[in-house]
Amino acid sequence: MSDNQEQASSVYKGYWDPESNERHGQYAHGKEVIVRAHDVKKVYKANSESPVHALRGVTMEIYKGEYLAIMGPSGSGKSTFFNAIGGLDRPSSGQVYIDEVDIAQLDAAELAWLRCRKIGYIFQSYNLIPVMTAIENIMLPMTFAGTAGDEARHKAFDLCKLVGIDHRADNKPSELSGGQQQRVAIARSLANDPAIILADEPTANLDSKTGLDIIKLLVELKEQKNVTVISATHDHEMLAISDRVLWIKDGQVDRVELREDLKIQKGTID
Ligand SMILES: Nc1ncnc2c1ncn2[C@@H]1O[C@H](COP(=O)(O)OP(=O)(O)OP(=O)(O)O)[C@@H](O)[C@H]1O
Ligand SMILES: [Mg+2]
Repeated sequence: MSDNQEQASSVYKGYWDPESNERHGQYAHGKEVIVRAHDVKKVYKANSESPVHALRGVTMEIYKGEYLAIMGPSGSGKSTFFNAIGGLDRPSSGQVYIDEVDIAQLDAAELAWLRCRKIGYIFQSYNLIPVMTAIENIMLPMTFAGTAGDEARHKAFDLCKLVGIDHRADNKPSELSGGQQQRVAIARSLANDPAIILADEPTANLDSKTGLDIIKLLVELKEQKNVTVISATHDHEMLAISDRVLWIKDGQVDRVELREDLKIQKGTID
């Protein structure tokens, strides 16, 4: 084992032990758990092909108000883990608790409420509705949540200002740059004041400067609104601003590191 690996595993064991799932150390002290994944496994079975074990038992606690980056090679299971904790797909086994509620126990209406109100989603490819303007895209989740039209428009415009696209509020996605589209997607994710933002590779389609602006925006929002940001990434810029980094490898937790400990290893990450 290299010095760095040794250091990483001792850091990891220092505050969270995945075997016993016991928390200790200063970082976890006094923190509230918002997402708890327990032994989450996912097997994809396609016809005639051998099954893919995308997650092989992930146990992880995510704390309220933290910025957690999820890193790992392509195909390691990051998006699968996202889909599980975001209630977008059911794990094959194991449990996901949000605010200590086992989401597998929710009925369709409760799950829809959770997806609409509690979690904001941001995707690599923005996923905006092409025929709607920026402000209409941002209003959409509010419409689903039953917010009245005027109120939704007013709030959507405030969100446009927050993410710096108020001058482009009436443009359609095809008239916006990638960075502007991602700002719209971020504003949309905030529409119903979620407690959690799940961002799957939010900077992957952006140049590094724009990517950095988007990351800074997410950090600002985390601080202003006390949301929990969970972001899968290949972007090393993301590491410097994350409170913790969850490294996934072959569908398993490889290690969890605190930002302070990453700094020590700067230049040797990955
Ligand atoms: N719907 C699916 N059906 C079958 N296999 C799938 C499906 N979705 C993902 N997989 C497989 O599960 C594994 C994990 O995929 P996942 O998308 O979670 O990886 P990832 O870490 O997000 O990768 P990337 O960094 O490329 O986005 C991969 O081997 C992938 O091919
Ligand atoms: Mg992915």
